[in-house]
Amino acid sequence: EDVLAGGGALDGLRVLISAGGTREPIDAVRFIGNRSSGRMGFALAEAAKRRGANVTVVAANVSLPRAPGIEYVDVTTAAQLADACSERFDACDVLIMAAAVADYRPEEAHGGKLKKDQTGAELNLRLVRTTDVLSSLADRRRPGQLLVGFAAEHGDGALAYGRSKLERKKLDAVVVNDVSGAGIGFDAADNEVWIVTADGEHHVPKTSKDAVAAAILDSVLSRSSSNDT
Ligand code: CTP
Ligand code: CA
Repeated sequence: EDVLAGGGALDGLRVLISAGGTREPIDAVRFIGNRSSGRMGFALAEAAKRRGANVTVVAANVSLPRAPGIEYVDVTTAAQLADACSERFDACDVLIMAAAVADYRPEEAHGGKLKKDQTGAELNLRLVRTTDVLSSLADRRRPGQLLVGFAAEHGDGALAYGRSKLERKKLDAVVVNDVSGAGIGFDAADNEVWIVTADGEHHVPKTSKDAVAAAILDSVLSRSSSNDT
């Protein structure tokens, strides 16, 4: 059967979405974070829910209203996001990684609040790599599972970087947005994206994140029947 094709009826499909931006602690009150608001991931979750999907959102530091009928799992750090996604991955049919996940974290977080008289004129933070959640989940995917990544790129080469992530992470689609433009992408109401698949690129001109979410579900899910063996 072809549950993903057509106008987007996602009845009974289990969709796991990560949203927001992770925070890596420096001390008890400070962190390294990013400007992701979670709006794109939440818009995707609500659009998938409206189409009948069973939706779980792993939300990293998102302060947006929650929609009824969607399960939300709140996390803070990249490691917590990795655990939350890993626990739920086997049970999902579609994974959409819209979260901005930290690539590095402070090697150790200070227990209390750092004081200037402890640290002096300079404070050196040593950062270490986090796990690539999406790549590690792609490595253990089962046949028929659909994996969608995001790539927030800055300026020239955005599409090429997106395509290389598609291949390197073994994904079905990568949603590329060029975050160098004003009023789109991070912490903005609108977005403009290219949906990159093995078949080519689909451009979604600047529009609301709800409309972008609908376009992503349409174009990514409708072509997945070929993959749905
Ligand atoms: N991602 C992830 N785990 C990470 C980093 C990224 O799962 N530790 C996911 C993101 O959620 C996104 C995709 O990988 O769906 C691409 O993220 P991006 O930051 O664009 O790519 P990176 O592989 O981290 O490469 P770089 O930041 O160097 O461009
Ligand atoms: Ca990254």
